[in-house]
Amino acid sequence: MSTQLNSAENRKVTTKRLKEMKEQKEKIAMITAYDYTMATLVDAAGVDVILVGDSASNVMQGNKTTLPVTTEEMIVYAKSVVRATKRAFVVVDMPFGSYQSNPYHAVDNAIKIMKETGADAVKLEGAQAIGEALRLIITAGIPVVGHLGLTPQSINQFGSYGVRAKEEAEAAQLIKDAHFLEETGCCALVLEKIPAGLATRITSELNIPTIGIGAGAGTDGQVLVLQDMLGMNTLFKPKFLRQYANLAEEIGNAVSHYVSDVKNVSFPSAEESY
Ligand code: KIV
Repeated sequence: MSTQLNSAENRKVTTKRLKEMKEQKEKIAMITAYDYTMATLVDAAGVDVILVGDSASNVMQGNKTTLPVTTEEMIVYAKSVVRATKRAFVVVDMPFGSYQSNPYHAVDNAIKIMKETGADAVKLEGAQAIGEALRLIITAGIPVVGHLGLTPQSINQFGSYGVRAKEEAEAAQLIKDAHFLEETGCCALVLEKIPAGLATRITSELNIPTIGIGAGAGTDGQVLVLQDMLGMNTLFKPKFLRQYANLAEEIGNAVSHYVSDVKNVSFPSAEESY
């Protein structure tokens, strides 16, 4: 069943609309997608923001981390998503290595992503350390979504996917970083796996919308990885994940039914033949 939207809500989602949603306390629903078919379905179901996440490295490519996916590969995923999307705001993750080494390299890569995909924004992980890259990208007219807390591109430094900013010093730094991103001109901020109270405080202090994943109910919106919330990956069950379907079982049953129909020649039938 797709969500019924009124005419104002039916408009293409823009940076202006996201700000308006925060002001009007209307929650923002964000979800990942990496291909045309899934993007068509999630857009029609009323999702506000589609994130072409670098989680594509895990869920589409089978890598252990988000680090291996390249800019060229992200562009292929993003082009397919943009082709499918009528209403949602499409954000593309800048992958590891595409923005950290040199701010000019970063702005060139952001421009390449925007030019070749037709997406609405890019997302980068981090704050002060990538400040010059953020400034150049935003000055080029590209909307940027920030990402703080558990930033998976730094997994080798963190050493685990545990909750971030539980200690006071890290929490205080995270608050400073969030303000830095707003002052630099980011249009929204993803907060991943941090205590709910901290995410609520940041949300109340910022004018830009916050989107949480494992950050409690106090953020302006929520994001989940599509394959995880559809129950396609039975091995990944963190506490924050609500599973809305069990597609691993449904797909497994459908495909094994098909295999047995082929083996016992009950597919195709005369009606399914020319
Ligand atoms: O890549 C991704 O899917 C993300 C979300 C988890 C926020 O960055």
